[in-house]
Amino acid sequence: MCGIVGYCGKKDAGNILLEGLKKLEYRGYDSAGISIIGESSIKTIKSVGKLNNLEENFALSSISGNIGIGHTRWATHGEANLQNAHPHLNSKMTISLVHNGIIENYLDLKKELIAEGYEFKSNTDTEVIVQLIDFYFKGNILNATLNAVKRLKGSYALGIISMDNPGELIAVKNNSPLLLGICDDGFMMSSEISSIVEHTNKIIYMDDLEIAQLNLNGKYKIFNYNLDEIEKEIKIMDLNTNSISKNGFDHYMLKEIFEQPHAVKNLLNKRTIDKRINLSDNFFSKEEIEKFSQIYIIACGTAFHAGEVAKFAIQKLTGKQVLCEIASEFNYNQKFVDEDALVIFISQSGETADTLMSIDEVKKIGAKTMAVVNVENSTMTREVDKVMYCYCGPEISVASTKAYTTQLANLYIVALDMALKLGKITQEELETYVDELYTIPEKMEASLKDLNVYKEIADEIKHEKSIYYTGRGMDFTSAKEGSLKLKETSYIHTEAFASGELKHGSMALMEEGTKVLTVLTQEHTLNKTASNLEELTSRGAYIYAITTYDNEVVSKNSKKIIRIADTMDIFAPMLSVVPSQLIAYYTSLAKGNDVDKPRNLAKAVTVE
Ligand code: G6P
Repeated sequence: MCGIVGYCGKKDAGNILLEGLKKLEYRGYDSAGISIIGESSIKTIKSVGKLNNLEENFALSSISGNIGIGHTRWATHGEANLQNAHPHLNSKMTISLVHNGIIENYLDLKKELIAEGYEFKSNTDTEVIVQLIDFYFKGNILNATLNAVKRLKGSYALGIISMDNPGELIAVKNNSPLLLGICDDGFMMSSEISSIVEHTNKIIYMDDLEIAQLNLNGKYKIFNYNLDEIEKEIKIMDLNTNSISKNGFDHYMLKEIFEQPHAVKNLLNKRTIDKRINLSDNFFSKEEIEKFSQIYIIACGTAFHAGEVAKFAIQKLTGKQVLCEIASEFNYNQKFVDEDALVIFISQSGETADTLMSIDEVKKIGAKTMAVVNVENSTMTREVDKVMYCYCGPEISVASTKAYTTQLANLYIVALDMALKLGKITQEELETYVDELYTIPEKMEASLKDLNVYKEIADEIKHEKSIYYTGRGMDFTSAKEGSLKLKETSYIHTEAFASGELKHGSMALMEEGTKVLTVLTQEHTLNKTASNLEELTSRGAYIYAITTYDNEVVSKNSKKIIRIADTMDIFAPMLSVVPSQLIAYYTSLAKGNDVDKPRNLAKAVTVE
């Protein structure tokens, strides 16, 4: 989703901005632009489509300067065209601004400004902000920005430059991520660390309602909205540029699928010592767990599917009921969470607007909160009582893979820790589970060996209009995740059905040759799901089975069987997802899609 970047320093800003924007590409965008303070005016270039268009336009221009801002736009208000692309400028073209977020009261502000004689060129909420700054401008861009942002309702991270204050870059935020990089030659600002890491490891995370003034003279100041100067911690990050390279793979998605065994092992090494769970004070005590009246899990997309698996695992191991809800649904429905509830949030990015909003809602009620998050220091990690990181490194591909399996590993640890503390399992039993978890990375490797089967399936399904996934219980959840992966990367209509529910409608869709992928890893439902395969093939379905079992009925009814390694049933989702990820990857390639950046999708969904 939209990404912003800014530079103010001794170097030429143009290439730094373009390189910075390239790092934000994966978030998803459909137009891009930059503004740079030139000798006598602000120079702006915008382009629709991929960043190469912007790079080509920039190469043809002779724009140079030391202060600039850049943006990748994922259209929300108004279509993806040049007028709506950022940066947006005031009518006098003396102030330029980039924005990530959504301004909810922009129509009211727009009417007010139109009444004052302002004219608008775009359909965006962003143009309203820059005109509002113009309205308040009396010679000082910091003060004008502050007066303007105090009028805004909604979310924003802004980068602002002004021809009247040509030596400074203003950065301000509320409910959208923004961080600053302190470089040897000046300063950077960005929606995320990936575009800064090449220049410095000294990072300041801006909090909501803070405004930064970055000066060309090497000085910077950060204020709250009362203009009191505030001291911010400079964090030294150890992220290196290699972790965001493709490392020899053709695509990030494939690289990230292959990183899973190592990522899961790394996580287990951090979460266990000598077969004991090691969460130090990172998790709740026995007394606190006993007091939880309810356990909720809230997330979006793939992270929601990790939550659904965790629901099964926590229920099985602790006997406690778990409710799992999609954040965007939770936010606008009646809430039954009480102050003694535990609410677990799951998110790769830690920036998903709907999930952040759920945290707000739950905190108002006073419930205990914890988050399973990948991106360190992201907004979510600062909002909850306890944080469990995934430590799987940056996930660049929009389709989430290694974040999912490390979320699962974390959540299994949470389930086991709770079960032990509640006396539902003994230390000996815990060790058996932990031993099995340690076998998962090697078992994942087995699914990464022969890639031909996935390529063959991709070839067979690439022209289908619809493909279905089925399963029961935990396998249904894995089916949903497999279906989501295939849908996002292949653009083929996919849907997951609970096997037992097929007869209640979806069976009507089956005809000769309908492709169905089915997941069978749970002993207690194997025979039932296998019988459903009989029903499917009787109606002409063409079955691919992902299974831990060597079952006669399954073999008889499946055109292709992908055998995954055997494991305890509750851990099977970590293994059954790998073939689904690879089928999705190769189907996307077979269709010639942009596998790492599927159309219309964004990696960090920072708007509701
Ligand atoms: C987007 C991404 C998905 C992700 C979902 C939730 O849709 O494309 O891969 O699962 O957001 O994001 P989060 O960062 O909260 O896990």
